[in-house]
Amino acid sequence: MAHLSTRLLFLSLLALEVTLLQTGLAQNRINRQRGNILKNLTLTHEYENHIVTSQLDASMPIRMFYRGFREVYNRLLGPTGDRVRGAFLQPHVMPNVPFPCETEGYRSERVPTSVHQLRPGDIDIISAVGDSLTSATAANSVALWELLIENRGLAWCIGGQGTWRTHLTLPNILKEFNPKLFGYSLFDSYNVHHSAQFNVAENIATTTDMPYNAAKLVARMKLDPRVQWNKHWKLLTFMIGGNDFCSDVCYQTNATDWINQAQEKSLIKTLKYLRHNMPRTIVNLVPSPLINLSFSMDKAPQLPLSCYLSRPIECSCLFGPKYSNRRNLFRQLERNFVKIMERVSYMPEFHSDDFTVVYQPFFKDASVFYRRDGKSDMSVMSIDCVHLSQKGHAVSANGLWNNMLEPTGGKTLGFRGLFEQFRCPTPQNPYIRTYYNS
Ligand SMILES: *[C@@H]1O[C@H](CO)[C@@H](O)[C@H](O)[C@H]1NC(C)=O
Ligand SMILES: *[C@@H]1O[C@H](CO)[C@@H](O)[C@H](O)[C@H]1NC(C)=O
Ligand SMILES: *[C@@H]1O[C@H](CO)[C@@H](O)[C@H](O)[C@H]1NC(C)=O
Repeated sequence: MAHLSTRLLFLSLLALEVTLLQTGLAQNRINRQRGNILKNLTLTHEYENHIVTSQLDASMPIRMFYRGFREVYNRLLGPTGDRVRGAFLQPHVMPNVPFPCETEGYRSERVPTSVHQLRPGDIDIISAVGDSLTSATAANSVALWELLIENRGLAWCIGGQGTWRTHLTLPNILKEFNPKLFGYSLFDSYNVHHSAQFNVAENIATTTDMPYNAAKLVARMKLDPRVQWNKHWKLLTFMIGGNDFCSDVCYQTNATDWINQAQEKSLIKTLKYLRHNMPRTIVNLVPSPLINLSFSMDKAPQLPLSCYLSRPIECSCLFGPKYSNRRNLFRQLERNFVKIMERVSYMPEFHSDDFTVVYQPFFKDASVFYRRDGKSDMSVMSIDCVHLSQKGHAVSANGLWNNMLEPTGGKTLGFRGLFEQFRCPTPQNPYIRTYYNS
């Protein structure tokens, strides 16, 4: 009974959110008021409550309910990030199995001066902007009422909980090359908590939110005494776009124009800001897997009931009955946005010795796994069929890492089984690949 009522509370909260989005409060899209009424409610906030996403925060009731609620709720439920059993987890790698790559010699003797000569061990600081797929929302959740827990320590590109043996993440791979790496998220947290570190991703963020998200990241990093701003080499993973198509596109008067113009502008604006403000930085620009993944589940004969409950709410533009006839248009626009992202990454202004952007495409063709009998294997998906499970995060980390070592034009697409293919730097090709050293 207790569970049932929590679940109802949760669903009504999500429904409230959708209602507010639909009733024009979303007009005032970006209300960047600092703090909120329930600021530091649990006295655990490390970072000032900079509000990072737009739509939720545009309305006072949401600021009060959603942020306050999830904070207290999370305290009551407790953490889920340290779960050790379940099909949603990657199998642990035994201690007698060595790390797949030679790590010796892949941190330069002298700090490199060109971003095109970075060995994996040269990365000193890791960071991320993005949405709920980067905050690792619900990665370890086994029930819908745990959806609001963010397992940031497990996030594919920025989680650093445990090691690669228990949680394959990009930081846990890079730590093998440079144990002094920092900036990665430590454990379950929202982006204001200490454990979030340099992961400023926020749920429901869209491309429109990224200029703001990037500015908050830069501010946070500059305030951190560990950071030597002009000396340390920084890696930033920037993945966005899922919510543009799940929660936003169906409210636009001209969806085609909106994608082709407004969203592209926000993308360029964010990269320009980073280019001007973050020295010694390499950016992984990554398309969202959300839409391709969602469509891949259409082929699944039977999905868990939880998916039918959560998808119309979390991804109302694709799964809400009202918009189902425009689904294919939205899908086409999404495919187009992925191309826009790639094209933007080539703009000459984003490439120098000090800064570069690399488009990493592995996510764009992601789909759930299929078993030998042809049935879908949902273990990469979380309980809600929208987010990735911890295993999904591990598979994604593997994909991102491979892309970083693969030359432009030769990058692997889609999800592969964990460790099925694991690239390593070599004496001939020791560098993280950029457009200039590929
Ligand atoms: C939140 O409250 C705690 C305990 O009083 C305090 O140490 C911390 O600095 C506060 N955080 C912010 C961001 O104000
Ligand atoms: C959207 O805008 C484009 C270009 O401005 C135009 O060609 C198209 O007809 C518009 N679509 C709708 C549905 O108004
Ligand atoms: C995902 O994208 C790839 C490449 O565009 C495509 O071949 C694949 O069929 C897609 N998956 C689904 C289920 O749409």
